[in-house]
Amino acid sequence: MFQADLLGQRTVLVTGGGSGLGRALAKRFLEVGARVAICGRNEERLAATARELDPSGERVLARRADVREFGEVEALAQAVVERFGGIDVLVNNAAGNFLAATEELSPNGFNAVVQTVLHGTFHATLAVGRRMIERGRGGDILNIVTTYAWTGSAFVVPSAAAKAGVLALTRSLAVEWAAYGIRVNAIAPGPFPTEGAWSRLMPPEIEAEARARIPLDRFGDPPELANLAVFLVSDAARFINGECVTIDGGEWLASGGLFNRLTRMPRAQLKSMFRRLRGR
Ligand code: HXC
Repeated sequence: MFQADLLGQRTVLVTGGGSGLGRALAKRFLEVGARVAICGRNEERLAATARELDPSGERVLARRADVREFGEVEALAQAVVERFGGIDVLVNNAAGNFLAATEELSPNGFNAVVQTVLHGTFHATLAVGRRMIERGRGGDILNIVTTYAWTGSAFVVPSAAAKAGVLALTRSLAVEWAAYGIRVNAIAPGPFPTEGAWSRLMPPEIEAEARARIPLDRFGDPPELANLAVFLVSDAARFINGECVTIDGGEWLASGGLFNRLTRMPRAQLKSMFRRLRGR
């Protein structure tokens, strides 16, 4: 679908790139010619992912950094610049989340998620954005949010609040940093099966129901998300700025419209009911 060198000569930093969607993103960026830096909290996992993605090690840099700590993110950004000469694309993918009744949350539980998602996105955006501005060659920032950033969602209050903040940050900075040639966009994925998300958010009892909510009747496939990310940071999307692209098989829209649930009835039965209502 994409030319093999679509992002040749570009350097992409993917936070949380050692596993899950971040790993899928890093893999795809490498496939289209980019140099890729990944960070996360688990050094061993990062190193293993880096080895798997690029055994030569020529185009991958893996470095431990907890996005909650600005000092660690600063050191990471500096290391990427020293190794690859600059950062062209930042993907804020690192996230934390779990299902909990809000009245049972501790302030520290709220912090663990909000500091990773919202503060972490801000930390990486600040560290990388300042360097992009100083370099004077523009850049792309892509934030991974989720569809409940604007609907909200029960039982994931810290994540919903933080992702809403990231969406506001996306739209705000898209305007503010356009003057530096920096585009800021977001992707809102619905459910994509990854170990991190599934173990925390998709117990077996709710998986079938979650899938049934999706009009396309399946979960996402991580490479589909990665392809969208590649497109959004590529020159093909140079006029897209401040946008949030949903990739969820129609899930969030289907949860809203009053009559959307009718799509679950057999279509012939539905049409016969419509004819009856019309008096035919
Ligand atoms: C209630 C919990 C909890 C849970 C942790 N805490 N898990 N509270 N229910 N299930 C509380 C702890 O009791 C503690 O508070 C505080 O949170 C910090 O816990 P730690 O285990 O010390 O935190 P830490 O090791 O830093 O782990 C952070 C984490 C964890 C966010 C809690 O889940 C994590 O590392 N997640 C990263 C990966 C991830 O979540 N991936 C899924 C992202 S999917 P106290 O008060 O006891 O000290 C996503 C999009 C969803 O974001 C879209 C779906 C469609």
